[in-house]
Amino acid sequence: MTATDDTSVGVAADYNGLRQAEPSLPAAWYYDAGQFKTEMSTVWAKSWLYLCRSAALSGAGAYKTLSVGEQNILVLRTREGRLAGYFNVCRHRGSILLTEAEGTLPAGRVICPYHQWCYGGEDGGLIGTTSFAEPAGFQKAGHGLFRISVVEWRGFVFVNLDPDAVWDDEVAFQRGAAKLTDYPLERLVLGHRWVRQVACNWKSFWENFNECLHCPSVHPSLSKLVPLYRRRQINERDRPDWREHAQDPDPKYRGGLRPGAETWSMDGSAQGRLIPELSEADVARGQIYAVALPSAYIGCYGDHARIVRLLPLGPEAIELTVEWLFPPETLADPGYDMAKVVDFAVAVLEEDGRACELSQRGLHAAPYQAGVLMPEEYHLKTFHDWLRAALMPTDGNDDH
Ligand code: FES
Ligand SMILES: [Fe+2]
Repeated sequence: MTATDDTSVGVAADYNGLRQAEPSLPAAWYYDAGQFKTEMSTVWAKSWLYLCRSAALSGAGAYKTLSVGEQNILVLRTREGRLAGYFNVCRHRGSILLTEAEGTLPAGRVICPYHQWCYGGEDGGLIGTTSFAEPAGFQKAGHGLFRISVVEWRGFVFVNLDPDAVWDDEVAFQRGAAKLTDYPLERLVLGHRWVRQVACNWKSFWENFNECLHCPSVHPSLSKLVPLYRRRQINERDRPDWREHAQDPDPKYRGGLRPGAETWSMDGSAQGRLIPELSEADVARGQIYAVALPSAYIGCYGDHARIVRLLPLGPEAIELTVEWLFPPETLADPGYDMAKVVDFAVAVLEEDGRACELSQRGLHAAPYQAGVLMPEEYHLKTFHDWLRAALMPTDGNDDH
């Protein structure tokens, strides 16, 4: 991402920007059904995906289901307190097992609604069928639920459709997880959830997330709160001449919030509820992001955190689920108005959604085969490199 041998006049060696024009992805990758299917069965089927907060699966038998493209999965809390996850499909003749988005399983067992085969939640084993006898050649042991992988990480539940996936912070989060170490994610509780569909390809969402060239035109309010964004930058090193201002504490060069602001909210105020574990420097920094491609990012601010999950609904549609997390004492404070942070973020998300939808419509133009990345879009290049690597067959066991 950074060059160390750039001797161009006025270009700092540790400037972030791309030095040469890079093509963007082929236009058809944003709407082609075959490409979408390939991405679902490679990238999405082999990555860690955000499901929910641990607290949303707190009692024995509590479960959630989730659709990842055409794949439907279920995750449940066992009697031992573990989480177990399976494909939500019956081994008899393929019925969906659990039809609700969430609920509680009686006796911790999964019973198929079609012919009532019964599976144990602990290990997914087939406990019983409803036939008079078991035919020759049939063994219950070979007909347990298909497992997936489930992990609880700092109060968040992640799933991986690959039953042999091994959790690794560095793999699950392509950037930023280490920066969250001192942020008290575990003790935060859900304050609000917001769901919205956006008519764009899932990659457009990430590309938009990864640059701020659009910030002044698309996000006027956010650009006032974070002065660096008004300069179309995400980081201070996004301009070739950044070292000329390296000693200047002005947030328009340094990053961070405008003077006097404490958090991402309508008026920049944290309403007296800054998270006590954060240092002054943490608050001044304004925001920290951890990115867990392809499904989520976590944003941490002075008085709350926010996790944004995206799921593809098809080549040209995504569903966003946004959860705002707060310390319990903040939610218990009748003087704290959560709407100030929720409304601010929703406005930004709506602005981004509209921009992504405009791009999605334009991509269909017959002569448009691919675009071009400008210097500030270096994170898009990293995203494209990640995507191409994720699309590659691994260890010869890829099934395409
Ligand atoms: S399909 Fe589930 S019991 Fe028959
Ligand atoms: Fe944006």
